[in-house]
Amino acid sequence: MAESIFPADFLWGGAIAANQAEGAYLEGGKGITTVDMIPHGKDRMAVKLGVEKRFALRDDEFYPSHGAIDFYHRYKEDIALMAEMGFTVFRTSIAWSRIFPNGDEQQPNAAGIAFYRDLFSECKKYGIEPLVTLCHFDVPMHLVREYGSWRSRKMVEFFTHYARTCFEAFDGLVKYWLTFNEINIMLHSPFSGAGLVFEKDDNKEQVKYQAAHHELVASALATKIAHEVNPENQVGCMLAGGNFYPYSCRPEDVWAALEKDRENLFFIDVQARGAYPSYARRLFKEKGIVVEMEPGDSDILKDTVDFVSFSYYASRCASADMNDNNSNAANIVKSLKNPYIEASEWGWGIDPLGLRITMNMMYDRYQKPLFLVENGLGAKDVVNEKGEINDDYRISYLREHIKAMGEAIEDGIPVMGYTSWGCIDLVSASTGEMSKRYGFVYVDRDDQGNGTLARTRKKSFHWYKKVIASNGMDLD
Ligand code: BG6
Repeated sequence: MAESIFPADFLWGGAIAANQAEGAYLEGGKGITTVDMIPHGKDRMAVKLGVEKRFALRDDEFYPSHGAIDFYHRYKEDIALMAEMGFTVFRTSIAWSRIFPNGDEQQPNAAGIAFYRDLFSECKKYGIEPLVTLCHFDVPMHLVREYGSWRSRKMVEFFTHYARTCFEAFDGLVKYWLTFNEINIMLHSPFSGAGLVFEKDDNKEQVKYQAAHHELVASALATKIAHEVNPENQVGCMLAGGNFYPYSCRPEDVWAALEKDRENLFFIDVQARGAYPSYARRLFKEKGIVVEMEPGDSDILKDTVDFVSFSYYASRCASADMNDNNSNAANIVKSLKNPYIEASEWGWGIDPLGLRITMNMMYDRYQKPLFLVENGLGAKDVVNEKGEINDDYRISYLREHIKAMGEAIEDGIPVMGYTSWGCIDLVSASTGEMSKRYGFVYVDRDDQGNGTLARTRKKSFHWYKKVIASNGMDLD
């Protein structure tokens, strides 16, 4: 029998995030976070971008994160479903405000620690490795109100204290860690990405890159602490990935695509290579940015990550003439529409070869193992009269992307694993919808929060189980 191109220890699984799945937003002593302030509906984007300051909840709005899919109470049932598919890895995040409700306390909240110990132990019971993000789009609101979130250097202290607390509390249960989810998204969606809210006279670029510096220092320190607590710990950075293609071979378009790629890769350049990239100097000069650094920061940044993780949904396209009117946000990052590829119902381009291109570019640049920690198709599912969900479109998307990842492995790239996004339906980060579904498991809940929350296996559930059992050989 032919051998799989996927290594024998390749990790197969799925990914969720605390704020999009757990719900129970004030239970177990949890504090309120940025994402809890982001409503469903017309004001959502303005709040996410940090242009509308929303520091108090309103009675007339629906907040999808508050109940989400109630993973907080149902995680045992959900992990059992993941185990049934044969998962060997499960990616989730810790809600910072379950551990430190305000974010600046010295002592952690015991109920928060207990919840995650139980959750990770449940994974281990089935031989599933947890892959844990420390911050996935949720900063405690107290830190936003009191310190301006990542504008403040104090955040480095709060985050590293939180990180150390987690590494120590979950030692022996978790060895794969990510510091910040899609760290580059803070440039594109500053409030949801980093808790940033803007004042009228702010130089937004200045605020964002100063905050980025604080996150990068915090990430490097957390990486160092993780290794001190347990040398077995492996820490990754996390990029919202997808290469920019030049819209044409006009040199100006090629240059525009290169600049757009650099905008996102800036973060990973620091986290994986240990220093600011050479192009940063000119970028900052042209944007009028002066990043305040403390003596010793450049040494701190030398603590690089063990692996580079990334999400990939779509490739992107840029030209020199790109502007807000001719571009669209696919996964928050603005892109021109690529006429050569199909798009999802939400306009996200479907491009499996783009995944292979992205992976090759990343490995050429970083020479560190890659981990594809998010990939999938957001689509509307229909439950038929027999109660089945026949999501062939999702199977087809995943099949083609897994094949492309296999090609990247054949290209010589070490890949640690694959966690498809939203392995169980959850709240969409961009739109707040439940109807934008990614899961192998259907959750009965609608965009307004109605439904029984019952879980149902989709057709893709049975398909993915075969993929895992065959180590990626059986994709039919
Ligand atoms: C990534 C995020 O941006 O894409 C996830 O890390 C998010 O939190 C995912 O859910 C898919 O995006 P969306 O907007 O379809 O939920």
